[in-house]
Amino acid sequence: MNKFPTIGILGGGQLAQMLALDGYPLGFRFVFFDPTKDACAGLVGKLIVADYNNEIALEEFAKQCDFVTYDFENVPVSAAEFVAKNTQIFPHPSVLEVAQDRLKEKVLFREQLNLPVGDFYAVDSYSELLFAVKSCGNDGFLKTRRMGYDGKGQYRITAKTNLKELWSQIDGGSFILEKAVHFNREVSVIIARNAQGEHAFYELCENKHKQGILTTTLVPAVASENSPKAFEYAQKIADKLNYVGVLTVEMFETDGCLFINEMAPRVHNSGHWSIEGAVTSQFENHLRAGLGIPLGSTAMQSGYAAMINWIGEIPSVGFTSKEKDVHWHIYGKQNRPGRKVGHSTVVADNAEELHQKVVNLAKLLGAK
Ligand SMILES: Nc1ncnc2c1ncn2[C@@H]1O[C@H](COP(=O)(O)OP(=O)(O)O)[C@@H](O)[C@H]1O
Ligand SMILES: [Mg+2]
Repeated sequence: MNKFPTIGILGGGQLAQMLALDGYPLGFRFVFFDPTKDACAGLVGKLIVADYNNEIALEEFAKQCDFVTYDFENVPVSAAEFVAKNTQIFPHPSVLEVAQDRLKEKVLFREQLNLPVGDFYAVDSYSELLFAVKSCGNDGFLKTRRMGYDGKGQYRITAKTNLKELWSQIDGGSFILEKAVHFNREVSVIIARNAQGEHAFYELCENKHKQGILTTTLVPAVASENSPKAFEYAQKIADKLNYVGVLTVEMFETDGCLFINEMAPRVHNSGHWSIEGAVTSQFENHLRAGLGIPLGSTAMQSGYAAMINWIGEIPSVGFTSKEKDVHWHIYGKQNRPGRKVGHSTVVADNAEELHQKVVNLAKLLGAK
C-alpha cells in the first residue's frame, strides 16, 4: 500500500463527506465521483462531476485511486464493475446488485439464509397487485424494487386505498408488496468486516422514522430477548456476502420476533452517532476494513449517545447555540423538503442524562 493511499468514493453526498473527514487523520486522500456538481463531498475534496455511464471519466477517476468504495447503493453496478477493472473496490460490486433490488434482497434473507422477513410478493401487474394486497390482509407497503431511499417510492396500502387509481399512476415499474409489520420498535446493526472475516459490531441502535425518513437514533437500544439474534443475523448476511467494509442491517422488532427489513452496503445514518459516541467511528472502520488495516474499537466513548437528523432545513439556532454538549454536523447542502441537511449528536453517561439531553436538543432544534 502507498504511504498515503487515495480513496475514491462513488457518490458525493454526506456519507462520502464524513468518510473523508474521518479518513484524513489516517493520512488518506479522497476523490469523489458524482453526477451533480454541487455534491456536498466536494466541499472537502476533489470532485469529478460526470454521469455514471461516462467511462472516460470513470477511468480517469479510477486511475487516481488506490481503493474505491461507495456512498450509496444505487450506483449502477456497471460503473462499479468498470472501476473494479482499474483499481480495488469494496464491498464487491455483486453486493450492490442485491442491495439495489428489494426483491433480491428479501430472497437472499429468506431463501438463501433462512432468516425471518415479513411476508412479501413480487408485483409486476395489476392482477399481481390485487392478489398480493389480498394476501396481506389489505395492510402493506407497496415499494419500487429499485432506487428507493428515505421512504421514497413507497405507498402505504390499507383497505381504503384505491388500488385501480394507484396502479394507473405507477403502472410500468417493478414492485414488491410487503405486509405491514406492526413492530414495537426498529433497530439496526452496524457491522464492520474485513476480507479475513474479522468483524466488530457497534452497539444495537434504536431508530425512529417519520414518513419513512430516519429522525432519531438512540444507542444502545435497551437489550431485549431478541437482541442477540440481531447481531447473529447481521453476521450471517455479512459472511454470506463475503462482505468487506461496514454493513448495516435494519430490522423490525415485535413481541417475540425480529424481522429483517433491509440492508445498506455502506455506512449508515443510524451510525452517525459513532463519530463522537464510539472510540472508532463507522466511517473510519469502513475504511480500515476496506484497506485491510486492523479494525478500531467499536466500544462507546461514554455509555450512551443519540443522533437527531435535520430534515429539510438547517435549524435556525445554528452556531448561536449555547448548548455546549451538542455536536453539530452541517453537510453544506441546499435546504429542500425531505432532504437530510445535517444532524446533531449528544453523548451521556447514563440513560436519564441522555433522555434529558435529547429532550433539550429537540426543544432547541424546534426553536425558531
Ligand atoms: N413492511 C413494513 N412494515 C412496517 N413499516 C415499514 C415497512 N416497510 C417500511 N416501513 C417503514 O418505512 C421506513 C422506510 O422503509 P425502508 O424499507 O427502510 O426503505 P428506505 O430504503 O426508504 O429506508 C421503515 O424504516 C419503516 O419505518
Ligand atoms: Mg430503510
